[in-house]
Amino acid sequence: MNPLISGLNDKVFLVTGGASGIGLACAQALAASGAKVVCADLQQTQDLPQGCEFRKLDVCSEAMTNELVSDVLARYGRIDGLVTSAGISRVGDLQSMTLQEWEQVLQVNLTGTMLSTKAVASHMKQRGQGSIVAIASINGMLGNPTNLAYCTAKGAVIQMVRSLASDLGSYGVRVNSISPGYIHTPMTAMLDELPVGKAFEEMHLLKRAGQPAEVGNAVAFLLSDLASFITGVNLPVDGGFSAAKVIAI
Ligand SMILES: NC(=O)c1ccc[n+]([C@@H]2O[C@H](COP(=O)([O-])OP(=O)(O)OC[C@H]3O[C@@H](n4cnc5c(N)ncnc54)[C@H](O)[C@@H]3O)[C@@H](O)[C@H]2O)c1
Repeated sequence: MNPLISGLNDKVFLVTGGASGIGLACAQALAASGAKVVCADLQQTQDLPQGCEFRKLDVCSEAMTNELVSDVLARYGRIDGLVTSAGISRVGDLQSMTLQEWEQVLQVNLTGTMLSTKAVASHMKQRGQGSIVAIASINGMLGNPTNLAYCTAKGAVIQMVRSLASDLGSYGVRVNSISPGYIHTPMTAMLDELPVGKAFEEMHLLKRAGQPAEVGNAVAFLLSDLASFITGVNLPVDGGFSAAKVIAI
C-alpha cells in the first residue's frame, strides 16, 4: 500500500498506454494504493503488477474504446478515473515530416485522448464524480522545431483539458493534465546513450531525467480526493525544465 495516497482502495481506473513507461508506472502507483486498474494498450506486457489487468485497445478506434469502457462498467460497475498515457512521437520538422506522420501523431496523442475521455465522461457525469488526467508534455508548453506534430498535439491536449474541465466541472468531474520532462522510458531510450540526451538532462534544473514512478505518483495524487479542488490545471513534472531557461556556461 502507498501510505501517502489514501482513499484509492477499491476504486477502478482505466489507464491507456498502461503497458509501458509512464502509463505502467501510473498503474503501479494506483495498484499500490489498493485500486483496480485496467491497462489498455496496443501491446501486451507480462509485467503488470497485482491489481492490474490488460485489455487490448487502439485509442484511435472509437468503437473499440466504447466497447472497452462498456465491458469495464459491466464488470466493475464504476470507473473512478482515467489516465490517458497512450502516445507516440515522430521526430521531424515542417519540411521533413510527412502528412502521414502528422496525422498519425495527432490521431494517437490528441484524438485518442478525446475519444477515451468521451467514452468515460457520460458515466462520470451520471455519478457526479470522476477524475481524468491526460499525459501531455513539456513539448506542449514550449516550441521545439524538430518535433512539430508532437508539440502541436501535446499543446492541444493541454488546451483541450481546460475546455473539458469547463464542460465537466459542474458535474463534479475534474480534468487535469501532467506535462512530464525527460523521463526514462522505452519512448526515450534512443536518447539515453547519446550526447543530446545528456544535454537534455542538463536543461532540467535538477540535472537529471525523471523516472516513470515520479510521474505515476503525481498522477495518483491528482486522481485522489487529496486533489478534490484541483481541475483545469497543467502540472509540469519536469525537474524544473519549464521553470527557467538554463544557460550553458
Ligand atoms: N518519456 C518521456 O520523456 C515523456 C515526456 C513527456 C510526455 N510523455 C508522454 O507520456 C506518455 C507515455 O509515454 P512513455 O514515455 O511512457 O512511452 P512508452 O512508449 O513507454 O509508452 C507509450 C504506450 O502507448 C502505447 N500506445 C501507442 N499508440 C497506442 C494506441 N494507438 N492505442 C493504445 N496504446 C498505444 C504503446 O504501445 C506504449 O505501451 C505519452 O503520451 C508520451 O507522449 C513522455
